[in-house]
Amino acid sequence: PVKQAENGELDMSALSGLTVGFSQCDNASAWRIAETESIQETAKENDVTLVYADAGGDIAKQASDIGDMIAQGVDYIIAAPQEEDGLQSVLQEAMAEGIGVILVDRGVNGEAGTDYTTAIMSDFIWEAEQVAKKVIEATEGKGNVVILQGTPGATSATERNEGFLNTIKDTDLKVIVEQPAGFLMAEAQSVMENILQAQGDEVDVVFCHNDDMALGALTAIKAAGYKPGEDILVCGIDGASAALEAVKSGEMLCTASCSPYFGPITFETIAKLKNNEQVDEKLIIEDTLFDIDNADPALGY
Ligand code: AHR
Repeated sequence: PVKQAENGELDMSALSGLTVGFSQCDNASAWRIAETESIQETAKENDVTLVYADAGGDIAKQASDIGDMIAQGVDYIIAAPQEEDGLQSVLQEAMAEGIGVILVDRGVNGEAGTDYTTAIMSDFIWEAEQVAKKVIEATEGKGNVVILQGTPGATSATERNEGFLNTIKDTDLKVIVEQPAGFLMAEAQSVMENILQAQGDEVDVVFCHNDDMALGALTAIKAAGYKPGEDILVCGIDGASAALEAVKSGEMLCTASCSPYFGPITFETIAKLKNNEQVDEKLIIEDTLFDIDNADPALGY
């Protein structure tokens, strides 16, 4: 069993001296940077040597980064997968070498026990369902919707789309455009500029798979002369401080949180694995929907 410290908290001393690989899919947004820093800081606090690699949004590089970590003989691998397909063979190789694999923030097409040890993430369907319910309430279930999607093939993009579309399916909300913008602010701004040029007067709601894209869409909406919150309702996911500020001021309708702070829960899980404690195949992080009544920028990252 895991040792408990005198104060009842999990004893993390099993982590001391371990070498752990962390394969980040990209480090190009405030959310990803907060996630990377959370994992780096928790590793440092627990005397863990962290082998870090940033795949720069390239799934082939991510597979090769993980291969390098196996070759270096790390004790565990933490992976934030870029897409759900493309890592299975290298993750199976790690598992065959006895290296525990902890997936964080996105999933892979595969099975716990074969392709990875455990997965820690938010419930993306739930997040998008909450946003869709808020949109239905604000529009009385009528209007034209634009969806700015995250990275194609990322579980956070696929499942957020599914949760949103399933929730509005019996309403008069009609999706008129669905376009990927890579979870990135600048890309979303440019995609939104083009949509507004072509059919700006038809757009009532913009649902973005994350807050960076919602903030990029907001910039495009304002530059095109529309008033966010009145002409067009903008929604995101993540709970970035800037998005919470926009929700508080009425420029955004809502955002659902999606915590980037994976360090503590991930290393607690590794401590349990190191102590041969049973861990669940999936650990779900609880989120909150923020609208004008509860948005507080201090709660963001
Ligand atoms: O997988 C989690 C998502 O990935 C976050 O919502 C997003 O901001 C990131 O790129």
